[in-house]
Amino acid sequence: MREFINKEEGSIGFVPTMGYLHQGHLALVEKARQENDLVIVSIFVNPTQFGVGEDYEEYPRDLKRDTKLAETGGADAVFAPSVDEIYNPDHGTVVKIEGITENLCASSRPGFFEGICTIVSKLFNIINPDRAYFGQKDAQQVLVVKKLVAELNFAVEIRTIPIVREADGLAVSSRNQYLNDEERESATVLYRALELAEEIINEGERRVEVVKEKISSLIKEETDNIDYIEIVKQNSLKNLSEIKGSVLIALAVYIGQTRLIDNLMLEV
Ligand code: PAJ
Repeated sequence: MREFINKEEGSIGFVPTMGYLHQGHLALVEKARQENDLVIVSIFVNPTQFGVGEDYEEYPRDLKRDTKLAETGGADAVFAPSVDEIYNPDHGTVVKIEGITENLCASSRPGFFEGICTIVSKLFNIINPDRAYFGQKDAQQVLVVKKLVAELNFAVEIRTIPIVREADGLAVSSRNQYLNDEERESATVLYRALELAEEIINEGERRVEVVKEKISSLIKEETDNIDYIEIVKQNSLKNLSEIKGSVLIALAVYIGQTRLIDNLMLEV
């Protein structure tokens, strides 16, 4: 990878992914293409960000398809290392960030953000990009990566894109392919719940608990298995006493066995 990069000239845009590329990933590639001379996509299902009992083994993989999609999407190179190349058996360095990794996805996925910070640091050190591209679909990940870059002095600019959705509102995700037809229909409840929250807030409701309760009853029409519903400050993920300012509404819900996340940012 380094040899390849050293031969090239100009700015490098980097899109880290775990593969099984979809329209969300391709929107990141497109933006990277517009803003850089060279675009590199990494495809690496990172074992250290999966917990015990999670879907590391089942996570969809199709490198041949992904390479084609990345290329037609505008990437100059795909970096798809093996697990052994990235983590040798006695690998012992972990990057841990505190302050914004205590709630939301961190509560139900211990070690998740350590895994992300470690792999993202390694990839940044290998590729040394000028800009790196992340989706708002993973709102907490964006904040965590920005903090990582600021606090470990990585010379990379973090660029973001809005959530890419299917026509019925479901946020595009590699995990959507786990859903059967019935679950696929139920899965639209995440977006419907966010829309409902926006509507109630626009009508004047400012109480966090009331909005959460309404979201929760709508979601319960489809599933009893809610991981979290949070309404927090956008930049700190801290709790709000009332819904005001830059607000993030974030959801994680199981539809069948599949854990889906979605979120909405509002200026109130
Ligand atoms: P992955 O889930 O493959 O996502 C790669 C990037 O695509 C992330 O920045 C994610 O936010 C973005 N993305 C996924 N679905 C999206 C959508 N519907 N709209 C907009 N962007 C979307 O996130 C990871 O991989 C990993 O944690 C990684 C950063 C690669 C580290 O292993």
